[in-house]
Amino acid sequence: MAIPDALIDQIQNRVDIVEIISRYIPLKKAGRNYKAPCPFHHEKTPSFIVSPDKQIYHCFGCGAGGNVFSFLMKHEGLEFPEAVEMLAEKAGVKLPRYAGQRDEAGSMSRQLYDANELAAQFFQATLAGNRMAQEYLRSRGIGGETAKRFRVGYGPESWDALLQFLKKKGVAEAVAEKAGLVIANDRGGHYDRFRKRITFPILDVKDRILGFGGRVLDASLPKYVNSPETPIYSKGKHFYGLNVSKDQVRKTGHALIVEGYLDFIIPYQAGVHNIVATLGTALTVDQARLLKRYASTVVMVYDPDEAGEAASIRNMDLFISEDIAVYVAELPQGYDPDTYIKKSGAEEFRELIKKAKNLFDYKLDKLASRFNIRSAHGKAAIAGEMLPTVSRINNAVLRSDFIKKLSERLAVDEGSLRVELKKVKQDPGERYRAMEVKEARSTSKGAEKMIVALMLEGAELVRKVEEQLSAEEMENTSVRHVVQAILEMRRSRGEVSAPALINRLGHDDEATLLVSEAVAMSEVFGETDRDKILADCVAAIKRDNKKDRVKRLQSALKVAQDSRDEETVKKICAEMNALMKK
Ligand code: CTP
Ligand code: MN
Repeated sequence: MAIPDALIDQIQNRVDIVEIISRYIPLKKAGRNYKAPCPFHHEKTPSFIVSPDKQIYHCFGCGAGGNVFSFLMKHEGLEFPEAVEMLAEKAGVKLPRYAGQRDEAGSMSRQLYDANELAAQFFQATLAGNRMAQEYLRSRGIGGETAKRFRVGYGPESWDALLQFLKKKGVAEAVAEKAGLVIANDRGGHYDRFRKRITFPILDVKDRILGFGGRVLDASLPKYVNSPETPIYSKGKHFYGLNVSKDQVRKTGHALIVEGYLDFIIPYQAGVHNIVATLGTALTVDQARLLKRYASTVVMVYDPDEAGEAASIRNMDLFISEDIAVYVAELPQGYDPDTYIKKSGAEEFRELIKKAKNLFDYKLDKLASRFNIRSAHGKAAIAGEMLPTVSRINNAVLRSDFIKKLSERLAVDEGSLRVELKKVKQDPGERYRAMEVKEARSTSKGAEKMIVALMLEGAELVRKVEEQLSAEEMENTSVRHVVQAILEMRRSRGEVSAPALINRLGHDDEATLLVSEAVAMSEVFGETDRDKILADCVAAIKRDNKKDRVKRLQSALKVAQDSRDEETVKKICAEMNALMKK
């Protein structure tokens, strides 16, 4: 089923990573490479580099990296075949029909979406025939139209009703399991995950069903059962309800963020349409970026206890980094959006949203009630909590304005606040770049990576490395894996190329990141004598290996001595002597 390697290589060779990436972010020439602020994490000084020679990108800040396909997969949220397909057209390469075309029946993601779609239909049909489940929805104030709109359903009280239904529809048990709809038992069979629960399908903005949440009808525990992470569902990457609310979110430029299914559905039903739900998990950068496509402002509508929690507040800083304005609306103690609307109605709810405080003021108020704002220690503590938020503001004018406000509230001069602010602003890329060439060459960890970098410089260096080291001498598993793959590629193709290597290794795993990092490293080291670097690295690795072996021999020796095993003691001593002489 896979796309033939030869075709992938052909596409790879015909497109230019610099051209493709610059469609998404502005790249600036810097020496042989191109640079930009990384699109995958927040930073002010660019640590994202693209190598036109090696056709690789790498970020020294967050460690993201890979070839042109890896970039598209990460940036566009595509599967590998989808990324290949996207570039095939541009490269003028015709893919055979079977080769994992987008949404083609048969691709794994397609099968999982289809299984979820069938499950949603099954749950909806089950709800239509179950009085108890309907009665529960009525008691929660969810009308029939609303239930239909959000495709609410019911998973019956049965161990395998869904499984049997899916099988009848031609879904393999293994696929149902992969979709998280059924769970393997220890007899080699499967049972339904969502039993005796109201089901809420979770859809992405393309209206594909990613997974489900299931709520019990009574007070039993756990209250919710959720789909696990699957190839199509990652929890921190979506918002519940954004598929239906996105137009209104875009129109108003505002998104209300709530926590639960009911906290989304009940306000929506009451006419509040610019709303999304996190489903109770902590916000992620991916979610901030997703929302940014639709809104420039978010209002967090949280329970006052939770919104006040330090962790929860810190989390909101994510949005600031993405240039999204954050407001916090506090519900009265003990209410969530669902119960508040039921008590006071949509109008009151809207009023409460209007009164939301911006995150900066909100946080400052919370801190002022926690610490003594008039004591020196209190001021320092408050500044310590506020400055990380301030440092995330990208706009210098806005940042300066917040510093001014903070200095007024704390009665502390702006100068000292700026000094403290400098301390929090430490770009991770900065630290990495500060790493000395010497360090990379003298620690075996750095040296092993350098060896990979050298091997990617061409067949001549691969040969030299092979003469002096074997893959087994490498301590890091990923390094061993990559070195073996390089040797294998040289054997089969006569040459080694970093992007082709990544296509073989698979994308987005440790080995791939290692390849992109190695390439980026070799660029940093520039034109320095490669033979000398190689000699240093080999020496560092051998020395560490020797130390390791000595350690192991020493502990083996102790065991042998303790058990008075004279023969083994002799053998170990001989081995040690031999090792020391080397
Ligand atoms: N949640 C979960 N598993 C739990 C509890 C909560 O996945 N055991 C998620 C659900 O997505 C839930 C959200 O966190 O909607 C918020 O949790 P909570 O406030 O406890 O529930 P409510 O949504 O208010 O549910 P209900 O009103 O039905 O009690
Ligand atoms: Mn609730």
